[in-house]
Amino acid sequence: MARKLIIDTDTAADDSFALLVGLLHPEADLRAVTIVAGNVDFEQQVRNALITVDQAGRSGEVPVFRGATDPLVRPWYEAKAHGDGKGNVEWPTPMQQAESVHGAQAIVDLANAYPGDIDLLAIGPLTNVALALAMDRDLPSKIRELWIMGGCDNSEGNVTAAAEYNFFVDPEAAQMVLSAGFATTIVTWTLTLAQATWDDQQLDTIRNMGTPLSEFFSILDAPNREFNGSVGVPGSTHPDSLTAMLLVEPGLIRRSSPRYVEVETHSELTRGYSLMDSREGRPSGVHMPNATVIEEVDEQGFYTKFMTLLETTVKRR
Ligand code: RIB
Ligand code: CA
Repeated sequence: MARKLIIDTDTAADDSFALLVGLLHPEADLRAVTIVAGNVDFEQQVRNALITVDQAGRSGEVPVFRGATDPLVRPWYEAKAHGDGKGNVEWPTPMQQAESVHGAQAIVDLANAYPGDIDLLAIGPLTNVALALAMDRDLPSKIRELWIMGGCDNSEGNVTAAAEYNFFVDPEAAQMVLSAGFATTIVTWTLTLAQATWDDQQLDTIRNMGTPLSEFFSILDAPNREFNGSVGVPGSTHPDSLTAMLLVEPGLIRRSSPRYVEVETHSELTRGYSLMDSREGRPSGVHMPNATVIEEVDEQGFYTKFMTLLETTVKRR
């Protein structure tokens, strides 16, 4: 039985690739896409999501909702790694429009419509999830599993040395969500760099597939590939699609562990830092684990399963 799923996203490049997993994987039953302030201009993110749904041949089948246009308490901070998020080219204008209901409300409504039977995949800053939590404090008991792309597992960040982008942009939301009692699994930037960074040969293999979706992927991926080259990362990084794929293909997970995770919200030097502690007892007291952190995956399996999705025959309307 496919898993009912909400994807909360700051739609740009790797987010769109995660949406393809939700839209096309046989184990994914994508019920909603909610947009959160993050990577690029908010309305561009909305358009990027609608374009992705359309390019996957699902236009009109999965509702897209606008959520928070700013973090909870801090100014928006744009990512520099994705261009406009759609490959800096023009795509056919989708027929589908975004819904009028707010994204946080959509999360609450779906959680109450399918209590204990729907997962939430959060691949942007956690602002919408925090807002939904403030609207319904029982959300953690209604969302079956919360999967988060965010944080670093005791390694250097991609925005500051301390912080990964999603936790850096809205650290208050991240801390609120991580302390709320969700059944939480976290895929980190650390794991992404180690096992979800595709090199030129892998990317050229995808491009040479010659399918409409491999072309869509290659165009959207190009700005990230170029940005990464400028910061010494060979190829393109795929944190969001890795998180989505692990949710629907848990057999790809090789090692994970329970951790106590807390996010820094006070210090400007370490804003968004994610403490990920494998020990419960510390001088400061006992901290019970509040998340499962993925530590190792089947790297080749992820790559080949994603390529299989790109072979999907798309019936465009
Ligand atoms: O740090 C990686 C995260 O921020 C991903 O969600 C990616 O979309 C980037 O914006
Ligand atoms: Ca993202």
